[in-house]
Amino acid sequence: MTNTSGPIILGIEGTAWNLSAAIVDYNDVITETTATYSPPTGGIHPREASQHHADHIGSVITKVFLEADGKGINPSDIDAVAFSQGPGLGPCLRTVATAARALSLSLDIPLIGVNHCIAHIEVGRWKTDAVDPVVLYVSGANSQVLAYRKGRYRVFGETLDIGIGNALDKFARGAGLLHPGGPRIEELAKGATSYIHLPYVVKGMDFSFTGMSTAASNALQSSLLEDVCYSLQENAFAMLVEVTERAVAHTGKDEVLLAGGVGANMRLQEMLKIMCRERGIKFYAPERRFMGDNGTMIAYLGLIMYQHHTFTSISQSHAWPNYRPDDTPVTWRQD
Ligand code: ATP
Ligand code: FE2
Repeated sequence: MTNTSGPIILGIEGTAWNLSAAIVDYNDVITETTATYSPPTGGIHPREASQHHADHIGSVITKVFLEADGKGINPSDIDAVAFSQGPGLGPCLRTVATAARALSLSLDIPLIGVNHCIAHIEVGRWKTDAVDPVVLYVSGANSQVLAYRKGRYRVFGETLDIGIGNALDKFARGAGLLHPGGPRIEELAKGATSYIHLPYVVKGMDFSFTGMSTAASNALQSSLLEDVCYSLQENAFAMLVEVTERAVAHTGKDEVLLAGGVGANMRLQEMLKIMCRERGIKFYAPERRFMGDNGTMIAYLGLIMYQHHTFTSISQSHAWPNYRPDDTPVTWRQD
């Protein structure tokens, strides 16, 4: 066997568009294999995504085992199987949970159902120097500002309707751009020459994106696509940075960590960096491969839960589409 450290965990992610399995130990990723569902037109259809996952789960697991074998790790060396239990699309979650249960039974190892949002946070803490950050978690379906306090990741602010990624993707679809829209909007925004006004909706510590996305679609009748993309980013990201800054002021924490697929956006990173520099605090963003959905983050959260004896029985291993991060007792952190 190669030089591994402590437990070895297999993790499976499949909450939405990306089916991904990884094997990790405490030091690093041993292997990761991914099969991505890309809708031919329109957005993600839950049943079609789950059919994609069902079609590919066998080959993804086989490949991850084969690659691990090449590094001297056999299925019998794996200590537990972790899977993303929620939040996510019900049909996709059921496919992944079924595969994880089957592996747990056939390899005779414990099962660990993990919260997908917390996995985004913990892989960021693993792959950067962040210790106790305020987290801005921005993805397709989710947009939340969180921080650890007294045994839970508390949600300080969140979207009142759709996630920022879905708002960007929805606007992009209406503008005839391919899914996912976020990266295309980022590219187009670079060619803008003017800013157009869009609704800025922050209510207390929460944000709302549907009105902004609809207004941006309407603005296309009289403005250039590049200008609307630019304005959409500036407006939405200012809302996110404002709430993140207020959570920093409230908690007194001195680090900000960016997580989730939208975190790959360089303009969002730049705006957060400016805010952190002005406040004299540290900003962290993991490398891109750990931002969007990936099997590694599920395996890594499984690993720290394994070390703290936090397991999931078969009867508790149901798909949990609206599983919130603050539903999870954080057994692996101290106050
Ligand atoms: P979650 O279940 O956490 O909501 P998810 O299924 O939405 O996850 P992620 O990979 O975390 O998956 O995020 C995908 C989103 O990230 C999509 O909405 C996509 O448009 C957006 N995205 C990816 N790259 C960029 C970018 N460069 N700029 C803006 N948005 C981006
Ligand atoms: Fe995600």
